[in-house]
Amino acid sequence: MELGPGKVAVVTGGASGIGLAMANAFAAAGVSVVLADVQEDALAAAAVEVAAHGVDTLTVVTDVSKADQVEALATTTVERFGAVHVVCNNAGVSGAADSWVGPIENWEWVMGVNFWGVVHGVRAFLPHVAMSGGGHIVNTASILGILPAFGGPYDASKHAVVALTEGLYHTVNSAGLPIGVSCLCPGWVRTGILDSERNWPSEFGAAPQRDVAAQITTDHVKRAIAEGAQPGAVADLVLDSIRNDRFWVFPSPEFLEVAIERFHTIEEGLNPVPAENIPGLPPRSQMLDEVMAAMLPPT
Ligand SMILES: NC(=O)c1ccc[n+]([C@@H]2O[C@H](COP(=O)([O-])OP(=O)(O)OC[C@H]3O[C@@H](n4cnc5c(N)ncnc54)[C@H](O)[C@@H]3O)[C@@H](O)[C@H]2O)c1
Repeated sequence: MELGPGKVAVVTGGASGIGLAMANAFAAAGVSVVLADVQEDALAAAAVEVAAHGVDTLTVVTDVSKADQVEALATTTVERFGAVHVVCNNAGVSGAADSWVGPIENWEWVMGVNFWGVVHGVRAFLPHVAMSGGGHIVNTASILGILPAFGGPYDASKHAVVALTEGLYHTVNSAGLPIGVSCLCPGWVRTGILDSERNWPSEFGAAPQRDVAAQITTDHVKRAIAEGAQPGAVADLVLDSIRNDRFWVFPSPEFLEVAIERFHTIEEGLNPVPAENIPGLPPRSQMLDEVMAAMLPPT
């Protein structure tokens, strides 16, 4: 589809990182932008930045894990602009606790934002996009949506987003709706995703602390993210995928080799083997050695 004046885009998680970069890219193309985010201070700052492109903007404080809030976002958008053409279900959190001995609220939080947020976004906006004459839906998954590498709710939520997005693609095509669908699967991108605890919901009590082992892995991932793709480059790829109606958006294709290797082991009926080398990270054996050394009592 064409992107330009007269078009309206909604971006959840639009206050920072990839979402803010997408909002800026839409605005630079002349598209009116609705920014939705749970973090009010960052949302206000993002609105100023995006409006500087000279397009109409609207901010709506939204917790995407809550269906009624996403419905309200859709209603407010259509009331203000009369139409909606592009929806980026992008809000996400990385998780804050051990999956198996940590609090169950960590699962509820991550699945609530990453999975239910996308479900609510598609359900709330699909009829409006159809009634606006068509458009495009972009769901942000992750490369971890086709390559489970860290276990727990993040991998699970992103696999679910890939699956539901592929299903959505088939549904809109079977129904003959003029709506494109893309699945964004980034590798490492320079954002605040590993500081997601800033938005840990107060209804879940105090945010859990990472244990020593988790902190070692987190520090390596933080470094990989700091050296990762620029959010602006990811946003450019997303807009290109919307314009050219491409489903898969892989900003870091070097991860695909590792994912394909996993599918080969599935084909051969082998038990899962963890990838020794994930792009951007030290070898897995080195990270394990570091974890073991940190957990052993000093001699
Ligand atoms: N950065 C990466 O390396 C990377 C890699 C793969 C996938 N992703 C995905 O990209 C998406 C964007 O994340 P990012 O990397 O830009 O991180 P980010 O932390 O910079 O942005 C995430 C945004 O989501 C918002 N958010 C959190 N909880 C929310 C909620 N309940 N409702 C509404 N908004 C909420 C945050 O306030 C923030 O503005 C996420 O879905 C993330 O999982 C990121």
